[in-house]
Order: sequence, then C-alpha cells, then structure tokens
Amino acid sequence: MTDLYAVFGNPIAHSKSPVIHAEFARQTGQDMRYTARLAPLDDFTGALRDFRTEGGCGANVTVPFKEQAHALAARHSPRAKAAGAVNTLIFESGGWTGDNTDGVGLVRDVEANLRFALNGKRVLLLGAGGAARGVILPLLGEQPECLVIANRTADKAAQLVDYFRTVPDVDERTHLAGGGFDTLAGQHFDFVLNATSASLAGDLPPLPDDLFAPGALAYDMMYGRETPFMAFARERGAQVADGLGMLVEQAAEAFHLWRGVRPSTAPVIALLRQA
Ligand code: ATR
Repeated sequence: MTDLYAVFGNPIAHSKSPVIHAEFARQTGQDMRYTARLAPLDDFTGALRDFRTEGGCGANVTVPFKEQAHALAARHSPRAKAAGAVNTLIFESGGWTGDNTDGVGLVRDVEANLRFALNGKRVLLLGAGGAARGVILPLLGEQPECLVIANRTADKAAQLVDYFRTVPDVDERTHLAGGGFDTLAGQHFDFVLNATSASLAGDLPPLPDDLFAPGALAYDMMYGRETPFMAFARERGAQVADGLGMLVEQAAEAFHLWRGVRPSTAPVIALLRQA
C-alpha cells in the first residue's frame, strides 16, 4: 500500500511541498503519496485525526498551526522543544512525535549549498516571532562567535535571549544579545538572517547602512521574489540568498525522518528555480 503524507496549513494552495516530496519519492523509489490539505482554522486537530484514520503516516505543518502541532505531540525532539513549534509529525502508535526541521534546513542551505561556514561568525537574526525562534537552536549549534537578535518590539528579542540562555546544549561561550534595531548602530555582521514578516508587506526593518561586514551573506527566509531586504543588502555589497533552498532542505530532513533515506536536494532546488 502506498504510504500517505500531507502538509496541513491555512492557506495551503500555494504550497510547493507536494512537488518537492514527489521529486524526492521519484528520485529514491519510495512508494508514497504527499498532498496539501487545507485544515479549518478552528479544527486543525480534527483534520489531523481524519488523516490518521485514512492511514496517514506523517505530516508537515505550516502557518498557522505549528504551535498547535507542538501542543499535540506526545514527544518532541530537542530542536522542536526549543522552537516551541513543530513542522514535522511522525505518527506512531504510542503517540505522535513532533520535530522541527526548519533550522537544520536553513543551516544546510547556508553551509552545504551556499558554502558559507557559520562557525566563529557574527550572526544577526532579524525578528523574534515564530520563524525566528524556530531556527535559533540549530544556528547556535554551529557555534557562531555571537548571535544578536534584533526586533521591532525590543522586549521580545530580549525574552528570546533569556530563554535560549536556559536551553541545554547552548554553548556558553557564544555571546547572545537581543534588543531593538537601534542597538545595531556601529555593529557589523557576517551573516544577517531576515526572519521578520516585513518582506510580506514590502517593508524593510530600519537597518544601519554599514551593517554588513566584508564578505557577508544576507539571507531572507522568504522566497519567490526579490525583497526590500535583499535589495538593501545587494546594494551594500553583501551576497544575497532567498529561502528557497531552506524550503527544500527542511523538506529533505522531514523525508529522511519518515523514510530513512536522504534525497538529493540540488536538482529539486534547480527545478523550483526554473519554475
Ligand atoms: P512568523 O511566524 O512569520 O515569525 P510572527 O510570529 O507574527 O510571524 O512574527 C513576525 C515577526 O516579524 C516579528 O518579529 C515582528 O516584529 P514584532 O515582534 O515587533 O511584531 C516582525 N515584523 C512584522 N512586520 C514588520 C515590519 N514591518 N518591520 C519590522 N519587523 C516586522
């Protein structure tokens, strides 16, 4: 019997995950089917249970259900626990396991695809919402020199820093700091990650002109178009990347968790870029 997987979100029609997983399955010869399912805003749990009854083996979860998925899981990986959000569920008879593959997907895209080593680098994370929190533990795992979190609401950045100081496995030598965008004046970073939703509204957080150190990489988690952040960074000499590679890499990690096989991501990233 063909194994069933799905991504749940609302909205979901735009999702590229079915195409990505179909390519992974074709490449690796796995007998599986992966679809996109619209979950009602007020009944994500019911949608998941129905899928499980139909024989679903696992699910991806996207906006706005990642925190609910975290609450529904009986067990969590350390990275899902730290993220407070789950994007991958593995259905097992003794209860569901929740994982979060976003951060490792980002790190793989940066390190393996873009060949940019984060170890010892000065890292700036813009934003302190769910998307930002989801990637912090894997970023810290690369042992950057520092991780600075800057957010429009300064308190939220400070709270995230306080929280991650208490998380086991975070190297005490990594300098962690958080605050408002005004605290960035005079500071320079090697890797700047835009995890705000400002790009969705065509906005750019207020960033100093000399933010990027020589050779810096500016990464926007959004994909599909040049964002104001990407244009800002390009004009100031930084290398620029969008979040398409992260999208494919987080999917590859989920595929590996479910199927025990690691697909090749480069051809799938190339395919999506062509489309
Ligand atoms: P997501 O799940 O995408 O992270 P979220 O949890 O609502 O969504 O977080 C959105 C993030 O983008 C927050 O850090 C938000 O800043 P605030 O905490 O101050 O709200 C940030 N953000 C949204 N619009 C922004 C804008 N126009 N300029 C700067 N930051 C913005």
